[in-house]
Amino acid sequence: MIFVRSILCEASAVTDFGIRAATHSDSEFLVDMLMDAVNWLPTRHWSRDQILANPALAHYVTGWMRRDDFGLVAVDPAHEPVGAAWFRYLTAADPGYGYVSDDVPELTIGVVQTWRGRGVGRALLRAALAAARERGVRTVSLSVERANFASRLYAAEGFRTVESFENSDTMVAEIGT
Ligand SMILES: CC(C)(COP(=O)(O)OP(=O)(O)OC[C@H]1O[C@@H](n2cnc3c(N)ncnc32)[C@H](O)[C@@H]1OP(=O)(O)O)[C@@H](O)C(=O)NCCC(=O)NCCS
Repeated sequence: MIFVRSILCEASAVTDFGIRAATHSDSEFLVDMLMDAVNWLPTRHWSRDQILANPALAHYVTGWMRRDDFGLVAVDPAHEPVGAAWFRYLTAADPGYGYVSDDVPELTIGVVQTWRGRGVGRALLRAALAAARERGVRTVSLSVERANFASRLYAAEGFRTVESFENSDTMVAEIGT
């Protein structure tokens, strides 16, 4: 487990959280985080059932954890999960929104609302990219709706847009050494 101390300048508060590898038993929490990623717009309220019934969304979590799935979970001092970033290999036959190629895993990330803006998302993203690099992954991808501030976070952490759709961008990061 990596421990992180994030200093929240505005409130002069200190926030501690840990980051650990995701496991089989995180599947329900990953569904929670997929819900947060889908519902990032305050006006969007997709239910858990709606998301799990939609194959284009459910395939980011269905059957977690498969042999080639990997990810990280951020936890609070009581070890309760507060965020997750995970990769899944999707295929041309069942592509994700950020699909680039069968050998490029796609990232999903979410932080629980009360923990946002404290550095958890950036720390998770960096840890996820490091975990991918350690596994020998050279390129990773994601999809982000352009209006989501998260696209700026991704760009700041090395992602670049490779394809644009009406409201969303597919971004990749080359992480090979
Ligand atoms: C996107 C998300 C994972 C980022 O995690 P986070 O813990 O809130 O992000 P951090 O605190 O690490 O902040 C990362 C950067 O984003 C900025 N940021 C955070 N919240 C922001 C907001 N609401 N609006 C604009 N910028 C914001 C921070 O200022 C920081 O940049 P800085 O270091 O230059 O100041 C999280 O906000 C989230 O889960 N959102 C809802 C789900 C979602 O949108 N998922 C991504 C779908 S593609």
